[in-house]
Amino acid sequence: MKPADTLSDFSAFQSLLDRPIEDKLRDFQREQRLKHLICAAQLKPDLLKRLSHLADMIRRMARERESNLELRQLLSHKRAMLYFTQPSTRTFLSFMAACQILGITCNEVRDPKTSSEIKRESHMDSIRMFSSYFDVIIMRSPIANFAECCAYMMNRLESQEMRSVPTINAGSGSDEHPTQALLDFYTIQRSFSFDSEQKETGSRLDALRQSYPDLQRGPAGKTYLFCGDIGRGRTVRSLATVLSQYDSQRMIFVSPDHDALKMDDGLRTRLQDAGVSVYEFESLDAELNGESILSQTDCLYMTRIQREHNSADDTEQLARIDLGPFQLTPERVQRLKSFSPIMHPFPRDSVVQELPTEIDSDPRVMYFRQARNGMWVRAALLVHLLDASEELFMAYNRFYRD
Ligand code: CP
Repeated sequence: MKPADTLSDFSAFQSLLDRPIEDKLRDFQREQRLKHLICAAQLKPDLLKRLSHLADMIRRMARERESNLELRQLLSHKRAMLYFTQPSTRTFLSFMAACQILGITCNEVRDPKTSSEIKRESHMDSIRMFSSYFDVIIMRSPIANFAECCAYMMNRLESQEMRSVPTINAGSGSDEHPTQALLDFYTIQRSFSFDSEQKETGSRLDALRQSYPDLQRGPAGKTYLFCGDIGRGRTVRSLATVLSQYDSQRMIFVSPDHDALKMDDGLRTRLQDAGVSVYEFESLDAELNGESILSQTDCLYMTRIQREHNSADDTEQLARIDLGPFQLTPERVQRLKSFSPIMHPFPRDSVVQELPTEIDSDPRVMYFRQARNGMWVRAALLVHLLDASEELFMAYNRFYRD
C-alpha cells in the first residue's frame, strides 16, 4: 500500500460500507434519536418535523437578550471539533455560529498540514484523537465515505465501552451533504407554508389560489426543478432524497449532456422507486407536455458546475460545453410562478454566472435566507444529537407560553 493510501485506509469498515442503505441506518440511530448524521436517508419526515420545530424555537429565542443568554447556557459544557479539510464558507461558519448560539466551545482543523497528519498519522487516528478532546465531530472532507467510516469507528469504541462521540457529515466527496439538505428542506417548508397573513384579504394561500387553484401547503405534490451539475452535485442528491419521501412529487433535472454532469442511474432508480415522476432535459427552455418547464416549476434549485471534481478529460470536454442553457437569466425568471422559491446552495460561479446578481432582489430569491437558515437548523441538529431537546423545550416555555 502506498503511504497516501495508508492514511485513508478504510478496509476495516469495507463490509459495513458495502451494505444497502436501509441496513446502515440503524447504525446511525440511537432509539428515537440520531447517533450520527451521515446521509440524507436518515432525515425521515418525523425527524425533519422535530428538527424544524427546534430550529423555530432557537431562532425565536436568539432574538431577545434574555432568552439568547439562556440559549448560550444550554450546551456550554460541550466542545465541538470542526474538521474541515475541504474549502467551505457557509457550512463551516454556520456550524461555528450555531455552536456559539448554544454556548458550545469549538476548535478547528482546516489544513491537515498543520496537524500531525503531515507526520503520517492516519485519518482514523486523527479522528479518534479529536474524540478524546471534543463532544461532537463535524467534518467535511474530499474523501468519499470518510465520515461514514468515522461513525463506524465511534460505534466500535462505544461497543467496547470506550469514549465515543457523534459524527456529523458536513459534506463528503461528491456523495452527500445531509445538513445542506436539512437547511434546504427547512427553507422549502417555510416557503410553502404561505403563512404571511393579509388580514383584509385573507391568507396568502387564498390569494395565490386565485391563480393556482390546486396549490397546497407543504412540500408534497410539487414540481421541483434542479439545474446544473446533477451528476456531481451532492446537495442535489441529498435534497432529492429527502423530498422523495413526500407524496406526488415531480422532479425535473436539467443538465448538460455529459456523463459526469447528468443524473446517475442510481439516483434516478431510487427516486422512481420512491414514486417520483422524473424528467430530464438539456435546457431551462425545454418544454414538458407543450408547456415551458419553468412555468410548471414550484421550486427551482440551481447549482454550479463543480469543476473541483473534474478529471483531466472532463476539463477539456467541459470547456467546449455551452452553459447558456443552464443560466437563470431575468427573462427565464419571468416564466416562473409568482411564488416559486429560487434556491442555490452557493457558492455560485461568478464567471459562469448560472445565477446572475441582477435577479438578487427578486422576492422569490431564497439563497441568502437558505444560508441563514443553515445556522438555525445546524443549531437544532446539535441540540438533538447532544440530547438537549427537553431542556430547550423547558427553556423556551419559560419565555413563551403560546
Ligand atoms: N453550500 C455549501 O456547502 O457552502 P460551502 O461550501 O461554502 O460550505
